[in-house]
Amino acid sequence: MSKLKVGIIGVGGIAGSHLPGWAASEHAELVAGSDVNPDVLKSWGEKQGITKLVTDANDLINDPDIDIIDVCTPNNYHAPLSIAALNAGKHVICEKPLAPNPALIKDMIDARDKSGKLLMTAQHFRFSGKSKAMKAEIDKGVLGDIYHARSLMLRRSAAPTRPGFIMKEHSSGGPCIDIGVHILDLTLWFMDNPKPVSVTGVARAELAHQEGAFSNWGGDIPKEFDVEDFAAAFVRFENGATLVLEVSWLLHHDTQGEDMQMWLYGTKGGSHWPKCELYQTDNTTKQHYNTTLQNTKDQLEAHAQECVEFAQAIAEGNPSPVQAEQSMQVMAILDGIYRSQAAGGEVKIEY
Ligand SMILES: NC(=O)c1ccc[n+]([C@@H]2O[C@H](COP(=O)([O-])OP(=O)(O)OC[C@H]3O[C@@H](n4cnc5c(N)ncnc54)[C@H](O)[C@@H]3O)[C@@H](O)[C@H]2O)c1
Repeated sequence: MSKLKVGIIGVGGIAGSHLPGWAASEHAELVAGSDVNPDVLKSWGEKQGITKLVTDANDLINDPDIDIIDVCTPNNYHAPLSIAALNAGKHVICEKPLAPNPALIKDMIDARDKSGKLLMTAQHFRFSGKSKAMKAEIDKGVLGDIYHARSLMLRRSAAPTRPGFIMKEHSSGGPCIDIGVHILDLTLWFMDNPKPVSVTGVARAELAHQEGAFSNWGGDIPKEFDVEDFAAAFVRFENGATLVLEVSWLLHHDTQGEDMQMWLYGTKGGSHWPKCELYQTDNTTKQHYNTTLQNTKDQLEAHAQECVEFAQAIAEGNPSPVQAEQSMQVMAILDGIYRSQAAGGEVKIEY
């Protein structure tokens, strides 16, 4: 059986992490690339041995030989490119965040439903061995009813400094949507995606504009930086559960690089990711029990695994491995944080 043909739009950093997935897939193969930067595109094509190279993404989107479009551009171009690709009858895997607000994700969902093709958000953390093991255990009910979550993704002097991340014009936001989307997506997925109803949050730039502010990932913070460098939130869900979220690219935090952690607290137990630990209490014996999950090994690196599983879902006629509806829910919370910052108080979550 011939393989599904993949074209990547935006052949920068993250596209490189998708390549091993397309190479490993038994159902799909990478055949083309597109980038607005012709020099980047040319050298990428030479390195990857890909000859179908176009600077106008529409040429890829409308190419009848392409089955899957892999959108790897900065955030603000995800929705228009994905919608055009779905309208042209392609399956779409799109980098996170699917779009910078829930209304645009709704437009993507409408285009998906009209086309009958699959749309997947590249939330790669779901595809690691640790995440799969934790999700499987939680789905067995070991935590009981999860009534609170603490989620953080905090970096010290580790902001991406490329325009696609630090200018609203390209990204729509800073760490709130760039990395908040990772830890929040994973947390909600573990919690079985309860419906969020309200959020109170802050999104501020406290360190980025200080004299000499720098990132270990790209030198001094550029003067064009116009997004937040820190965000925090308290979220309420329809089922009564609550969640505390903290994210930053630049924080005087006790870490080198990145600290990404999540605690879930339920009526029967607690958990920690990525330690993959469970915490339980026996009220009869008055004992505490801590267990570490086994079988947490990665099959492939998670960015690659997500591509493999997307192609497999298409080939086997299964639903998208990451549903856009869940991404809309995540983005509704993140969008609510920005609205709460502007309003100075709690806001209702709308999507
Ligand atoms: N899942 C993850 O772990 C992860 C990590 C990094 C980035 N990302 C996401 O991937 C996306 C890209 O990030 P990156 O680090 O690869 O950025 P990057 O700047 O390294 O690469 C983006 C590429 O897209 C090209 N581009 C910009 N606009 C375009 C357009 N309209 N059409 C075609 N090409 C265009 C740029 O020229 C550049 O080569 C972002 O949305 C980001 O949030 C995800």
